[in-house]
Amino acid sequence: MDVAGLREAKLAKKALITGITGQDGAYLSQLLLENGYEVHGGVRRISHSETVRLVGLGIDQDITFHDFDLSEQNSIVRAIREGQYDEVYNLAAQSFVGSSWDQPLYTSDVNSMGTLRILDAIRTYSPHSRFYQASTSEMYGLVQEVPQREDTPLYPRSPYGVAKVFGHLMTRNYRESFGLHGSSGILFNHESPLRGEEFVTRKITMGLARIAHGSDRPIELGNMDAKRDWGYAKDYVRGMYLMLQQDEGDEYVLATGRTHTIREFATWAAAELGMTLAWEGEGQDEVARDTSSGKTIIKVNPAFYRPAEVDLLVGNASKARDKLGWEAEVSVEELARMMARSDYDAAT
Ligand code: NAP
Ligand code: GDD
Repeated sequence: MDVAGLREAKLAKKALITGITGQDGAYLSQLLLENGYEVHGGVRRISHSETVRLVGLGIDQDITFHDFDLSEQNSIVRAIREGQYDEVYNLAAQSFVGSSWDQPLYTSDVNSMGTLRILDAIRTYSPHSRFYQASTSEMYGLVQEVPQREDTPLYPRSPYGVAKVFGHLMTRNYRESFGLHGSSGILFNHESPLRGEEFVTRKITMGLARIAHGSDRPIELGNMDAKRDWGYAKDYVRGMYLMLQQDEGDEYVLATGRTHTIREFATWAAAELGMTLAWEGEGQDEVARDTSSGKTIIKVNPAFYRPAEVDLLVGNASKARDKLGWEAEVSVEELARMMARSDYDAAT
């Protein structure tokens, strides 16, 4: 039976995605719709991005939206009790690490208590629902082992990371205490042309596109020594989906297994737009220039430094490969080029 037939015969699985207006929410919605799901999304009334990403993918008309806020218990209980979903993906969060020092209480409430509110609503009103929690490599923070695996000790370095540890451990606790089918995906950084504009990769590719179209304003960045394991968001939502198709809930790292500097990412993205970056200077004086035009493309602004840094992330996704058959398919260089091209084309 095809997708339309499944829906007609009311055989389609039903999923709720919180954070559906975000990067991952958009790609996961697309994937579930392609797999014949009836997709529901939780949306804040004051949504920043509204449904612009879903409109861009041409799928906004295929989704049923519900008022939903992770800080509001009633909206969560109502959604879970009335929906009786087969699968609930909790992607909603205050997801920007940098803001979490300015808004530690809000970040903690949304990212930790918000997760617990959903878990408890599922336990009480819909125990058959399978649950996915968006855990993160940021939980490893000051890394205790390289590369990081599911059992690597956690040492978060930001209010965001601390709050995510709570959600991670609560998901484990509800699985072990109440037999809930709950899984945590410990996802390393994943990016795409739909990435939020405040994150470093998108900030770089949007800035490069602006410069390639004639701007003289350099891109201002903070700590350029950080290294990340960057993958493509579309690959990672496939991993989330696979986790909820297993017989038991569990925890899985999703990562590429390779780590790169911000300089490398920027150099690849710039090359896609015809610029060759040469890096000069150190610390706050470091700049990247385009060797052909001589223009300064990137410079440091200490305002973007963080109170504590996560210097190195690199994940070992062998458990996901062995148990889920999951692997990252897009390389970071392809990703950097894809994002730069997309931002350049969007700006024409
Ligand atoms: P994103 O683009 O920033 O999306 C976050 C989503 O959460 C948005 O839809 C946002 O809605 C929603 N949201 C924020 N506060 C909320 C609240 N109080 N109640 C309900 N919804 C709220 O994030 P993403 O990159 O797609 O990431 C998805 C999830 O994976 C997040 O939980 C993030 O922490 C986690 N994660 C991401 C990565 C990564 O590299 N992308 C890696 C590991 C884990 P508005 O549109 O209203 O703002
Ligand atoms: N955002 C940003 N802006 N980061 C910068 C800048 C800048 O101007 N300059 C340097 N960086 C450095 C940050 O200090 C950090 O070390 C690194 O670039 C990556 O920053 P982000 O792109 O903001 O991502 P993140 O790693 O802090 O957080 C993302 O990945 C996590 C998974 O590890 C988010 O998506 C989190 O939600 C996610 O959990």
